[in-house]
Amino acid sequence: MGASRDETHFGYQSIPLGEKQGRVDDVFHSVARRYDLMNDLMSGGLHRAWKDVLVTTVNPPKSGKPFALLDLAGGTGDIAFRVVEAGGPNTHATVCDINAEMLAVGEERAAARGLDASVTFEQGNAEELPYADKGFDCVTIAFGIRNVPRIERALAEAYRVLKIGGRFLCLEFSAVDMPGLDRLYEFYSFEAIPRIGEMVTGDREAYQYLVESIRKFPKPKAFAAMIETAGFRRVSYRQLTGGIVALHSGWKL
Ligand SMILES: C[S@@+](CC[C@H](N)C(=O)[O-])C[C@H]1O[C@@H](n2cnc3c(N)ncnc32)[C@H](O)[C@@H]1O
Repeated sequence: MGASRDETHFGYQSIPLGEKQGRVDDVFHSVARRYDLMNDLMSGGLHRAWKDVLVTTVNPPKSGKPFALLDLAGGTGDIAFRVVEAGGPNTHATVCDINAEMLAVGEERAAARGLDASVTFEQGNAEELPYADKGFDCVTIAFGIRNVPRIERALAEAYRVLKIGGRFLCLEFSAVDMPGLDRLYEFYSFEAIPRIGEMVTGDREAYQYLVESIRKFPKPKAFAAMIETAGFRRVSYRQLTGGIVALHSGWKL
């Protein structure tokens, strides 16, 4: 991605690999309380439709069959809430995120929805998961993987904690490949999003990072190859909304 082995990108800036997580943590610490509102404002509510596609693909059993989801970089709990609401009585979700502030907002939301028994919030690093091998039926990560400094490690960890036959699903901003939409998207991303971010959260830089980090993330085909390298099989992806977002899938077989 243009940076040397011990360097990475924080948005468009080239920084030492060891500094990235701290910078990312500052971003989410700063925006945690306004995070959910900002998602609606920035995407015009579209993030809900994208998350619905992810949850439909997770397809938790409606019966009483036990189903354990691990939602990595799960932040304020959106994916976990949707999956347990879509699944049967024995569907359980674990939200794992590195940022205590995001998790605290998530725990408050779970309590307000009466979902505290079926959703557990735990602090952890996607690169080094605090879970035993083969414990989960499905591992999801939504708008999280591009923030993780060593993506290969996070993919290897997702693979390790999945049961055989389990599925990995990753929803992430991607590369717009629709003529016309690409220019509009470029303008909206670089002109509007940092301004909205500044107005709502007081932190323009956090949202400048967001749009830059999206541009630096590997293209869908290249990311699919990374998922395959981690050991997943039947890897596929689906582009949504003209490629603004991609949903990648891989199975542990
Ligand atoms: C854009 S938010 C996505 C939150 C949620 N998945 C959603 O879709 O609303 C990105 C999340 O990634 C988390 N994160 C960043 N680096 C991480 C890491 N190494 N391990 C676990 N979580 C991480 C951040 O704390 C933040 O909550």
